[in-house]
Amino acid sequence: MATHIHILGISGSLRRGSFNTALLRNAQAMLPEGASLEIADLSGIPLFNQDDEHAPPEAVVALKAKIAGADALLFAVPEYNHSIPGVLKNAIDWASRPVADQPFSGKPAAVMGAGGRFGTARAQLHFRQIAACLNMLLLPKPELMIPSAQQKFDADGALTDPEAREQLKALVDALVAWARKLR
Ligand SMILES: Cc1cc2nc3c(=O)[nH]c(=O)nc-3n(C[C@H](O)[C@H](O)[C@H](O)COP(=O)(O)O)c2cc1C
Repeated sequence: MATHIHILGISGSLRRGSFNTALLRNAQAMLPEGASLEIADLSGIPLFNQDDEHAPPEAVVALKAKIAGADALLFAVPEYNHSIPGVLKNAIDWASRPVADQPFSGKPAAVMGAGGRFGTARAQLHFRQIAACLNMLLLPKPELMIPSAQQKFDADGALTDPEAREQLKALVDALVAWARKLR
């Protein structure tokens, strides 16, 4: 029997109607056999202050534990001003400290995104730089960039575009295979 893979999904948007959080919810519904996906909640993470890196707030401790316990990470990254949102960078900065105790190193991960004219391509490139800095093992391909997201989801957040659904399924399957390969 294949090893169970538990994925932690992290969305860079706190928006109620977020397409990126919706993307993670759609991924939850198309997981292959032997995989689970939990979506992290970044809404309680305060602004990073290095004074507190050795005694971080409870929400950060909880997030770090979830990252450490996951077999793989799946980031859903909106594009804000050609980069990743501050909400996501802030959470990553907290979790990355102190360096000796950062849970990203060696962690299989994948990135995807929905929204905007180029489907978050520029934000994902920035995200790849950050992931490399933290020694995440980021899946090189397939890539998933969903432009014009408002036309690809219904009012309930279901991804209705057949091509995007196929691409999301391919990414999720590849991440699970990647995590099993790297165990
Ligand atoms: C502060 C801000 C900056 C944005 N900058 C960009 C951008 O540079 N490129 C782009 O394509 N879309 C940009 N957008 C549009 C977002 O990508 C779009 O609203 C997307 O749906 C946000 O993700 P979400 O639906 O998960 O909240 C920006 C939106 C905000 C709020």
